[in-house]
Amino acid sequence: MYGDLDRPPLRGDALTRALEPDGYRVEVLESTGSTNAVVAERARAGDAHGLVVVAEEQTQGRGRLDRTWASPARAGLTFSVLVRPSGPLSWVPLLAGVGVAQALRRQCEVDAVLKWPNDLLIADRKVCGMLAEAVDGAVVLGIGLNVTTRRDELPVPEATSLVLEGATTTDRDTVLRALLRGIADALGDDTRSSYRALCSTLGRAVRLELPGGRSVTGMAQAIDDDGRLVVDGSPYAAGDVVHLR
Ligand code: BTN
Repeated sequence: MYGDLDRPPLRGDALTRALEPDGYRVEVLESTGSTNAVVAERARAGDAHGLVVVAEEQTQGRGRLDRTWASPARAGLTFSVLVRPSGPLSWVPLLAGVGVAQALRRQCEVDAVLKWPNDLLIADRKVCGMLAEAVDGAVVLGIGLNVTTRRDELPVPEATSLVLEGATTTDRDTVLRALLRGIADALGDDTRSSYRALCSTLGRAVRLELPGGRSVTGMAQAIDDDGRLVVDGSPYAAGDVVHLR
């Protein structure tokens, strides 16, 4: 039984059956530290492309740049996908971001855009974050999406959730299927131009906060062939973008 009627559990068997034709094997865990840690372990053990581990609750959710990812149980989707790419690893997180953005636009009818490298914003507020980690030549792609999270439950006031943005569906089974199919499509095609079209960082004045504490301010001019953000002529592989205007 579950206490919150707005937050039913995921239906693991139905998800597994529905997503098998798309090349996924879905496992739903009631609670775990971090789905990225679980999938990284499975990647090291040799599991194949397409493993998806979803957690109804994470107790040690990890974010980019040593941050945390916190979400009440069943209020969002927290899952990790094992990707064994045929092309370069560096574009996997960016292309997956395209798949997630397009799935949210189609399935939930929200105006989702990307902030480099792969934060998903609606009306300039973060609804979804992605943590991509390279493990033995594979990529563990971890995704956290706020679905029915209420304003007082958000970790920071600049965040948002699908329900707060008026999404046409907040059914997590439906949204998870759409996201995973969107990711499969985006990784299958060459969607680099779609990434550039959906990336709201390009063409804007930004402050890029670099790992280690330094920051640079300038114009976000391009995403180069290695997926790096070019600010005033210099490419950067990692950092946190603040859109200035
Ligand atoms: C970020 O915005 O900093 C990235 C957040 C990524 C969170 C997801 S939730 C599922 C997966 N497991 C984790 O520990 N982190 C990612």
